[in-house]
Amino acid sequence: MRVLVIGSGAREHALARALLADDAVVAVVVAPGNPGIAELPGATCVAVHATDPADVVRVAGEHGVDLVVVGPEAPLVAGVADALRAVPYAVFGPSAAAARLEGSKAFAKEVMAAAEVPTALAHVCTTVDEVEAALDALGAPHVVKEDGLAAGKGVVVTDDRAAALEHARACLAKEGGAVVVEEFLDGPEVSVFCVTDGATVVALPPAQDFKRVGDGDVGPNTGGMGAYSPLDWAPADLADEVVTRVAQPTIDEMRRRGTPFVGVLYVGLALTSRGLRVIEFNCRFGDPDGQVSVARLRTPFGGLLHAAATGVLERVGPLRVSPEHAVAVVVAAPGYPASPRVGGVISGLEVAESVPGAYVLHAGTAVGPDGELISAGGRVLDVVATGATLREARHAVYQAVGLVSLEGSHHRTDIGLAAERGDIRVAAVEGA
Ligand code: AMP
Ligand code: GLY
Repeated sequence: MRVLVIGSGAREHALARALLADDAVVAVVVAPGNPGIAELPGATCVAVHATDPADVVRVAGEHGVDLVVVGPEAPLVAGVADALRAVPYAVFGPSAAAARLEGSKAFAKEVMAAAEVPTALAHVCTTVDEVEAALDALGAPHVVKEDGLAAGKGVVVTDDRAAALEHARACLAKEGGAVVVEEFLDGPEVSVFCVTDGATVVALPPAQDFKRVGDGDVGPNTGGMGAYSPLDWAPADLADEVVTRVAQPTIDEMRRRGTPFVGVLYVGLALTSRGLRVIEFNCRFGDPDGQVSVARLRTPFGGLLHAAATGVLERVGPLRVSPEHAVAVVVAAPGYPASPRVGGVISGLEVAESVPGAYVLHAGTAVGPDGELISAGGRVLDVVATGATLREARHAVYQAVGLVSLEGSHHRTDIGLAAERGDIRVAAVEGA
């Protein structure tokens, strides 16, 4: 099988790597890819306008692929999967109509209500008066979200009513602006990636993502600074519960509406004292949380995604998952997330990869004028390591991070630390 992967980040680097580990996959073409992907044996990178459906169809045709896997949300929302299916290609990724589960928080809330999926109480507001009423009704801490694609950066969580209102005003000022004011969810956050063909749903191993830029969860939200899996502190049946209570009812509701969802439903949830509550849906693998979840999957990845894309996921059976622990640490450019400075020279990757169990995924890198590797984005690299225990995996990942050099770069030093120390508690569910 020849597979086309759309995207250019560490997520797509991990997807290409996992696909190439499947004996059924003979070649992976990544468009546009990145310098790290270009070095994978069996992978080729080609140029594309990823959000132009016609251009993606052209690339798929030129490379005679059997499966297209769309990594990021923007091409999905732009209708890339629809254009490919019309040809027809087997596509792992939802239609534009189904991708609204990520593209519009208000739509996601509506589907969750119809499917009786547990989520935070929310008010969709289009005026400042409505926002003020919602803030007062729900109380502090305040959660205000932009209703649209914001790559995890459109959310403000604060005790400061004035700051909440200011964020809401800024969102409403945009054309067609709407905001969602939500009840605050207390409790640890988890990511569960649910692969589906539109009817059958299977969950990959749960992961935890670290969204804030600084150690101890301080500073602004980012696209994600690190992740680990498994979550030894979480209920053992968490993935099954997420399928039964969240993903399956959502997928059934989408099919009932005539907009079946094919691809990965990324369920971001909080384990609260009142049970699990969905924080958000995304229509793609997480980044970097997807990397650690996929790292532990032993079911051949190409076969899994192809089965989902062609409506025969039922035939794959239960997923095989490695008991090992995986940790990813993002190395970010100086100034990220506010104003990342790019163009810095990166070195030390080979020696970092010599640490047993460690490897490096490229996120925002480019080849500079003299052939050197340079930073080209806010999140520059993901260093990933696996180990028999979380402690071993963390030790390896931080050893490898220490060998990478990029002037002024920063990373979190506490990815998976609270879990390693046994400091994460899930509140007993009231009434259970
Ligand atoms: P989102 O873009 O919806 O994923 O939100 C980004 C981050 O904001 C989440 O990962 C949470 O850390 C935080 N967040 C979002 N909604 C809530 C909520 N209702 N209660 C508490 N934290 C939230
Ligand atoms: N790591 C969070 C996301 O991919 O949205």
